[in-house]
Amino acid sequence: MINSVLVAFSSKYGSTQEVAEAVVTTLREQGLEVDIQPMRQVKSFEGYRSVVMGAPLYMFHLLKGARRFLSKHRKALIERQVAFFALGPTNTGDEKEFQESREQLDKELAAYPWLSPVAVEIFGGVIDPDKIDGLYKLFMRQVPASDLRDWDAIRSWASDLAEKL
Ligand SMILES: Cc1cc2nc3c(=O)[nH]c(=O)nc-3n(C[C@H](O)[C@H](O)[C@H](O)COP(=O)(O)O)c2cc1C
Repeated sequence: MINSVLVAFSSKYGSTQEVAEAVVTTLREQGLEVDIQPMRQVKSFEGYRSVVMGAPLYMFHLLKGARRFLSKHRKALIERQVAFFALGPTNTGDEKEFQESREQLDKELAAYPWLSPVAVEIFGGVIDPDKIDGLYKLFMRQVPASDLRDWDAIRSWASDLAEKL
């Protein structure tokens, strides 16, 4: 594909992948040629004029795969239009929680000063206590299940984004 858009995601338990898929659907509805790949599988950016990245926040940081992607592909990302979304809030979903996640995201992205996204957004995330494993289980022992993804907001963001890519 020439002049198409790559949506690259990093996701531990799958909720960010589902948001990335919804973004792809909306961008295609807007007439764009779009591919989707997990960040770790992206080998080449040839033919892509824009890259939309999506990753969740974990323990105040972007998921490691996303940080690795940003560092590894600096040159290709500088040469293209980029956008970034992150999943975070899973508790009250109030303005304060979104603001805190947004601050975490801004701080993370500030580590890549060469990156100038045309759009950056935070979406509500998902907690599924049955899926959480390993060390994370210790931190999330008492946390109830939640899904704060607002699909209308996700589609609306992606629709606006289509005009910028
Ligand atoms: C152990 C753990 C730590 C988390 N830490 C943060 C955090 O520091 N900031 C935040 O905004 N969201 C945090 N979250 C919420 C995740 O970003 C959210 O669950 C997201 O939907 C996970 O995406 P995934 O299913 O693609 O892995 C955390 C979730 C878990 C399970």
